[in-house]
Amino acid sequence: MKREQFSSSLGFVLAAAGSAVGIGNLVAFPVMASKNGGAAFLIMYAFFVFFICLPVMLAEMSLGRHTRQNPLGAYTEIGQNRAWRTVGWLSVLTPFMIGVFYLVITVWIFGYLAKSVMGQLTELAAPDSFGSFINSNELFIYMAIVIGLTFAILQGGVKQGIEKAARVLMPMLFIMLIALVIYVFTLDNAMLGVKFFLVPEFDKLTGKVLNGALAQAFFSLSLAMGILITYGSYIQKNNDIVHAGKMVAALSLLVAACSGLLILPAVFSFNPDIQLSELSESSIGMIFMFLPKIFLALQADIGYFGASFVASFFFLLVFFAALTSLVSIIEVPVASLMDGKGVSRRKALYTLGAVMITLAVVCALSFGRVELFSSLTSYGLNAEGQPIVKSFFDLVYDIFYETILPLNGLLLCLFVIYRWKKHNFDAEISQGNATFAGSLLQKYVNFSLGTFIPFILAVIFVNTV
Ligand code: PHE
Repeated sequence: MKREQFSSSLGFVLAAAGSAVGIGNLVAFPVMASKNGGAAFLIMYAFFVFFICLPVMLAEMSLGRHTRQNPLGAYTEIGQNRAWRTVGWLSVLTPFMIGVFYLVITVWIFGYLAKSVMGQLTELAAPDSFGSFINSNELFIYMAIVIGLTFAILQGGVKQGIEKAARVLMPMLFIMLIALVIYVFTLDNAMLGVKFFLVPEFDKLTGKVLNGALAQAFFSLSLAMGILITYGSYIQKNNDIVHAGKMVAALSLLVAACSGLLILPAVFSFNPDIQLSELSESSIGMIFMFLPKIFLALQADIGYFGASFVASFFFLLVFFAALTSLVSIIEVPVASLMDGKGVSRRKALYTLGAVMITLAVVCALSFGRVELFSSLTSYGLNAEGQPIVKSFFDLVYDIFYETILPLNGLLLCLFVIYRWKKHNFDAEISQGNATFAGSLLQKYVNFSLGTFIPFILAVIFVNTV
């Protein structure tokens, strides 16, 4: 069977940007930036995106397009030995497990969207609302809807499913984001938030902060998850990979920066005296516990319908971002099953769907509902000297996202440069970009991928272990 392709370079860029733009850009980045040096953080982050992440991105896309395979197939075909095949397995297992974890978060977002549309802002802003929501039965209704939507998109295939969804959802996402930024700028004290987000404080850029920034950039660009190898395998030979990569990186960065102009002014207009330490560390806390309070407070200004509308608009934006990321990550195991076993897309989806649903349910039950899933293990002590109990959800996060992701990235760099070899990589990337060969960029990409990028990723990996 002929492999499906994106219809054009733009189709690919939108799909890959759909993958890259997610909760990381919309929520994690603004909070991180404002706490860790504002514009100084933004500058460093942009530097990481273009000088460290972009070469890795180009390597993944080229590897995919060259082999026309999913990550497992690509590592097997070029690696030609057991060790590389194992790395291939890791590159399929990782997105699968992160997919389960991301699915659960997307379901929560969808639930908050549904509740905002139903005008239940008071309920959402109540102190224990999130805790009871994630342990409620209605969660499973939302889960069914999100899974249905995601699999319906994937069932459409590359052009009619993934690309079509991205062509509709991504422009809507950009417009909604801009509209919300314009709206929050009309609120009182919005400028305090902008100041907070953008005043540079270079002394805050410690080693730990830089480590976190790079890990965030890496995650946010969907690197080392096999996604760009898989999407890369659907790029046409005459499309310019270098240009596409730059576009995806720039779009992701732009959305992250715009989100800073949305979230922080919103927070400050709600509470002009807010202290840094009160801003939730985690995106989860921010989206589900902090922001609903802001939407509720808006009710005093613009009334019940106005506030519900703004909240719905915001959660729809986050939901679109999460959905396109979720689609991209599930496509990796789907493609692997289709390539590896020669099964149809439908069959791959049903098989994977069954396993994913089971694991997502386990994840969803791991917040206290089922003791076994909620306290699988414990490592480390909290501030009170008590062991930190880890749920299934935490474990997936710690193992796959925090630890294996940098390891996968490191192995990918070594694989492309030392196994597949520079000249093959260059030859692939040069198809569709006649000026790449011999350029400064080519020298930089080759050099960095073979030397300091894997080194930096190794440091991040060792730091987490
Ligand atoms: N780029 C996504 C984000 O910022 C990360 C991601 C991509 C997560 C794909 C899962 C799947 O949220």
